[in-house]
Amino acid sequence: MDYNCVIRGNSDEILQKFVDEGLQFDLICTDPPYNLNKDFGNDSDKLELDDFLKVTQRRIELCKELLTPTGSILWFGIHHYIGFIQTIMYNAGLYYRRMNIWYYENGFSRSSKAPLTQYEPFLWFSKAKSKWTYNVDDVRVPYKSTERLKTPVYYKGKNGEKKMWTPNPNGAMRGDVWAFPTLAGKAYAKEKTEHPTQKPEALITELIKAYCPKNNDGLYEGTILDPFHGSGTLGVCCEKLNKQGHHIKWVGIELEQRWCDVANERLSKI
Ligand SMILES: C[S@@+](CC[C@H](N)C(=O)[O-])C[C@H]1O[C@@H](n2cnc3c(N)ncnc32)[C@H](O)[C@@H]1O
Repeated sequence: MDYNCVIRGNSDEILQKFVDEGLQFDLICTDPPYNLNKDFGNDSDKLELDDFLKVTQRRIELCKELLTPTGSILWFGIHHYIGFIQTIMYNAGLYYRRMNIWYYENGFSRSSKAPLTQYEPFLWFSKAKSKWTYNVDDVRVPYKSTERLKTPVYYKGKNGEKKMWTPNPNGAMRGDVWAFPTLAGKAYAKEKTEHPTQKPEALITELIKAYCPKNNDGLYEGTILDPFHGSGTLGVCCEKLNKQGHHIKWVGIELEQRWCDVANERLSKI
């Protein structure tokens, strides 16, 4: 099995093959078709709801088999169907960790009859009940208010004792709303390919930093799978981190040759 490359093929077959071969991944981070009728060059985003749920259930069950004992799944979805997918994850025997939100201010709408969509949820479930990777210190964010940091803040400890809170020098803990702009408009033209639902590298890199296991030297050293790789954002982000000295092993699977070519073109430029 070769890592750090794109496999052209159907995940519904390849995931089963990976299971049969006994492969395991620390993180499955994926952005599958949301069933919103997008044109990926195939009909994968245009299923009857029942078929979409059946196929999603099978994929999630196979992904569960592919996780290491401390592995996690990050599964992007859309508000229309995320409730169904969350139920499928529970039924598969995965453990709920968080409904994260990818929030973007620069969304656009074709309808004035409903609010503008400004988020896409992504579910985090773990294989184990009480062990998983989350690198809290790698994704800290600046404190919102510097006023609060000027004067000491006190709080009550477990036994009622007075304790002083000190700010973390690396910033505040990141929340579960991950704010990164979409790749819309001129500002992102350099990053954007012709793939209709390409995710921003900034978002995916932040997820890798948060969820990829690290070695004793503090370098990312885990295995990551994206079974719906599209234009290759997951692979590109892993390779950019590897160029900084990390040791991430990744695999991307994509049905369409066109998107594999786009991914390989992006990878060749790193
Ligand atoms: C939402 S897009 C992923 C976009 C990706 N995150 C990016 O940044 O470019 C989903 C992709 O899954 C692919 N796809 C759909 N069904 C598939 C299948 N059964 N196996 C592999 N890929 C599939 C589609 O062709 C599409 O490119």
